[in-house]
Amino acid sequence: MVTTLAMPEPVAPPAAPRPVSVAPAAAANPAARAIIEIDDVDFNYGPARTLHDVTLNIKEREVTAFIGPSGCGKSTLLRCLNRMNDLIEGAHVSAGQIRIDGVNIYDSRVDVIELRKRVGMVFQKSNPFPKSIYENITYGLRIQGRKEKARLDEVVERSLRGAALWDEVKDRLHESALGMSGGQQQRLCIARAIAVEPEIILMDEPCSALDPIATAKVEELIHELKKSFTIVIVTHNMQQAARCSDRTAFFYLGKLIEYADTRTIFMNPSNPQTEAYVSGRFG
Ligand SMILES: Nc1ncnc2c1ncn2[C@@H]1O[C@H](COP(=O)(O)OP(=O)(O)OP(=O)(O)O)[C@@H](O)[C@H]1O
Ligand SMILES: [Mg+2]
Repeated sequence: MVTTLAMPEPVAPPAAPRPVSVAPAAAANPAARAIIEIDDVDFNYGPARTLHDVTLNIKEREVTAFIGPSGCGKSTLLRCLNRMNDLIEGAHVSAGQIRIDGVNIYDSRVDVIELRKRVGMVFQKSNPFPKSIYENITYGLRIQGRKEKARLDEVVERSLRGAALWDEVKDRLHESALGMSGGQQQRLCIARAIAVEPEIILMDEPCSALDPIATAKVEELIHELKKSFTIVIVTHNMQQAARCSDRTAFFYLGKLIEYADTRTIFMNPSNPQTEAYVSGRFG
């Protein structure tokens, strides 16, 4: 498949050891289908332009990482993908187009609720509702009018298993979600996101509040989830980007500097700014 992106050919890894020791897995599949196409997108918060001419394709059932220094626009772009920025006064895509499965998601005919069902989101800080574990997971289905207990029970079990949490909480489904550990709460939020069967899951620094063990669990989970979902993850953790993602996009000052196979970005980036960032020399 032809993409709009120039993917540099891999060449021999550089001789100098890098401070970030990464061993990205296999190269991304060049034949994967583009599910999200971001074309020449500019984005403004009122008069201030935050994203400049961003173009990239996100491939189906892969993990795509957005990296870059604080303030470069990673979260802004992520929120563009399910129109979460619509909730911010004055915020708008000022040029270009974002298509999912070929449909311009900013078209006035697009049902935003439906879009957010297809494109779920997990935030930096886990945000379970002050309700039971069971009610957290079934919340989305209930607001869609689904009430049959057998069906809800099934979704709760499937989602918790999918989020690698079932065994830890199966005996306390009706206890408050707020009594769970931070890492469990974040996996609960992932379970809540997958309960409505999205196609795409956006994760904005999902592990930044977690300890290394909880982080490892979420990373394993991400690896499992990509069998069924397309995942876009924002992370400040270079090892995490290297471990979890198939492709990595590096942003700086609102511009996409380089986008390629994760292995290329970490082992042999073509842009000196990317090289400096992934090797920890700035940002
Ligand atoms: N609600 C908002 N209103 C106005 N400006 C905003 C808003 N949110 C973000 N910005 C600005 O847009 C730019 C990009 O912010 P964004 O949050 O997307 O960066 P980021 O790359 O996610 O940073 P971080 O790594 O710190 O989370 C910043 O200059 C920020 O100040
Ligand atoms: Mg951010």
